[in-house]
Amino acid sequence: MSWTRDSLIDAARKAAGGAYAPYSNFHVGAALGFADGSVVTGANVENASYGLTLCAETVAVGKVLSENWRGKLEAVAVIGGKAGAVGAGDPVTPCGRCRQMLNEVAALGGSDPVVWCASEDSVTELHLSDLLPHAFGPASLD
Ligand code: THU
Repeated sequence: MSWTRDSLIDAARKAAGGAYAPYSNFHVGAALGFADGSVVTGANVENASYGLTLCAETVAVGKVLSENWRGKLEAVAVIGGKAGAVGAGDPVTPCGRCRQMLNEVAALGGSDPVVWCASEDSVTELHLSDLLPHAFGPASLD
């Protein structure tokens, strides 16, 4: 495993720099760390039709699954904030839809990843199962 908690948070912070968020001006980055050392990042992508917005975590999940990645998801880092002040406020926790999206990747690799919700001066450490108890996932369809 070549990433660490701090490098994954750094990757999320860098990813936030790619956010397309002209409507909220709130930039979010997410980094997904896998057991083989890979890191896949995403940033939020907004739309003039506001409700079509894609969160950073969802963009990262889309990258993972569309590239046929099926590794074991061990950790997720998320950081966000107003443009130019990413990390300045409270740690960002994944929204409900993103929890469900992350659960799909976690379920494929059979893990309950740690989720680091970061700001500049604090990190809230949770597990996906804390954020999304009793999840509906691929096995629910068996
Ligand atoms: N956002 C994320 O990217 N991830 C989350 O988990 C929470 C919210 C984005 C969506 C929108 O572009 C902006 O933050 C403000 O809600």
